[in-house]
Amino acid sequence: MRVLFVTAEAYPLAKTGGLADVSRALPLALARRGVDVRLLLPGYPRAYTRIEKPRIVAKLDPMLGIDDATLVSGLFPDVELPVWLIDSPTLFRRDGGLYQDHSGKDWPDNALRFAFLAHAAARLALQRTRIDWKPDIVHANDWHAGLLPLLLSLEKGPKPSTVFTTHNMAFQGNFAADVLPSIGVPESCHTTDGTEFYGQISFLKAGLSYGDRVTTVSPTYAREILTPDFGCGMDGVLRHRGAEFSGILNGIDDALWDPASDIHLPQTYRASDISGKRTCKATLQHELGLPVAPETPLIGFVSRLTHQKMADTILSAIPWIAEQSAQLVVVGEGDPAIEAAMSKIRAKYPHQVSVTIGYDEPLAHRLQAGSDILLAPARFEPCGLTQLYALRYGTLPVVRRTGGLADTVVDADATAIANRSATGFMFDDTTMRGLITALGRALTLYQEPLTWRRLQLHAMAQDFSWDASAAKYVDLYSAVSGIPHTPIDRNVRGKDEIPETARQIAR
Ligand code: ADP
Ligand code: GLC
Repeated sequence: MRVLFVTAEAYPLAKTGGLADVSRALPLALARRGVDVRLLLPGYPRAYTRIEKPRIVAKLDPMLGIDDATLVSGLFPDVELPVWLIDSPTLFRRDGGLYQDHSGKDWPDNALRFAFLAHAAARLALQRTRIDWKPDIVHANDWHAGLLPLLLSLEKGPKPSTVFTTHNMAFQGNFAADVLPSIGVPESCHTTDGTEFYGQISFLKAGLSYGDRVTTVSPTYAREILTPDFGCGMDGVLRHRGAEFSGILNGIDDALWDPASDIHLPQTYRASDISGKRTCKATLQHELGLPVAPETPLIGFVSRLTHQKMADTILSAIPWIAEQSAQLVVVGEGDPAIEAAMSKIRAKYPHQVSVTIGYDEPLAHRLQAGSDILLAPARFEPCGLTQLYALRYGTLPVVRRTGGLADTVVDADATAIANRSATGFMFDDTTMRGLITALGRALTLYQEPLTWRRLQLHAMAQDFSWDASAAKYVDLYSAVSGIPHTPIDRNVRGKDEIPETARQIAR
C-alpha cells in the first residue's frame, strides 16, 4: 500500500502546532505497519536545511505561472521517513513564518502557494513528473492541501483514492473568488456544492467536498462539527458526507515524548521512579526565575495564545491563581493583545508567574515535565496533543469537556478517583468560573500526595501511542481504495535501522 501524505507542516522540518506532530507520527506509525508512505511538503528554507541527503529529483513543468519549482527528495533527520519538498524560490524560499510574514500578516499569495502544493501533489500522484512511484492513496491534510482531492476528482483516467483530514474547522483557507483563474480551479467547481463559501473560494470546503473519505482527529469533534455550533459554517457539507466522514483519534509520538528518554529534560523519569520529575520542576523554576519551591503547585500552559485555547480566560484567572499560592508558567505566542497582557500581568506577580512569549520546543518539553498541572482548556479542540503529552509526563491536565479533550481525559470525580480511572480535571462552562472550579479541584487534590500520586501513575499508564489509530487509517485506506493491507511490524525508528529501500529514495 502506497500513501502520499500531503501536509504544510511536519516536525522537525516545519511546525506551528499539532499538525506538525501528527504529520510526523502518523506516517511513522504507518511505515511501521509496512505502508510505503512518503510526505510532500512546501520547501521552506528551514525544512530544506534540516532534511538529510537532499537531492533534486525532478523539475516541475511550469504551472500557475510558476516556473522555478523542483522536487527535492530527502529523509527526515532522525527517523526513516522519506519526504519530497517543493523547492520554489518564488513561493516558499522566503524569510518569515510558514503562512505569515514577520509582522504576523498572512502572505498575500497564500492562495497561490497552497494551490501550487495541491497541483504539484496531483502531478506526483498521477506520475506526471520524472518520479517513478505511484501512490494508491493520497492523504491530504487541512486547507493547505484542500484543493488536491478536487484536482484528482477531475481526472478521468486511473488515479489514487483520496482521504482528506480536517485538523481544525476554524482554519478554512478562504480567499476572494477573483483568485480562481490564478489557482487552476475550473469555474464549474465554484458552486455551492464545490468550493464556493459565502462568495469566497474555500480550500477547506474543497477538501471536505471532494475527498473520497473525510476524517477529523477525534470522535467527539467529529460529532460536534456536524452541528452549527462547531461546524464553522460547514456542518452542512459534513452532514452531506454521511458515512464517508468519521473521526479517528490522534496519537502521540511516544519516542519523542517520553519522560524516560526525553533529551530536553535535566533528569529523566518513569512511572516506577518518578523522582526525576522533582528535579525537572526545580530546574524549571530556577530557569524561569521563580522561587524553587518543591511544595508549591506549578501550573503550566504551553499553547497558541488564542481565543480557541481560552488564553483570554486564563489571563483573567491569573489573580485568582496568584491568591492560591501557586505558580503559573506560560509559554506561547499568538494574539498580540493576549501576548501583551500576559507580559504585563507577569510583572505584577514576578514570584508566581512566568511568561515566555515565543515558540520554544525544548522548553515545551521541560514545561511538561516540570509542571504538576497542565492547563489545556479550549472553546473547541479537534484533538489537542498537549494534554496527551501531559498525561505521559505525570502532569495532570485541566481541560474543557469538548472535542478530543473529552475523549482523552477522565475527570477526577469521586467515582473515578475511587475506581482509579481518573486522569485529570474537566469543566464545561467557557467561563473563568468554569476554569477555576476545575483548577481549584486540582489544587485541593494536590494537597493529598497519595491520591495525587495514584492519579499521576494512572495518567502515565495511558496508551496514546499511534498504533491503534494508525490501524484505523489503514482500514480506511483499504476501504476507499480496495487495496488490502496485511500489517508487517517493522521497526523504523532508529536512523541506523533505515533499510536500503528507504535510503534509495534519497539517492
Ligand atoms: P494546536 O495544534 O491546536 O495548536 P495541539 O495541542 O494539537 O494544539 O498541538 C500543539 C503543539 O504545539 C504541541 O506540540 C505543543 O507542545 C506545541 N506548542 C504550542 N505552543 C508552543 C510554544 N509556544 N512553544 C513550543 N511548543 C509549542
Ligand atoms: C489542530 C487542532 C488540534 C489537533 C491538531 C493535530 O491544530 O487545533 O486540536 O490536535 O490539529 O491534529
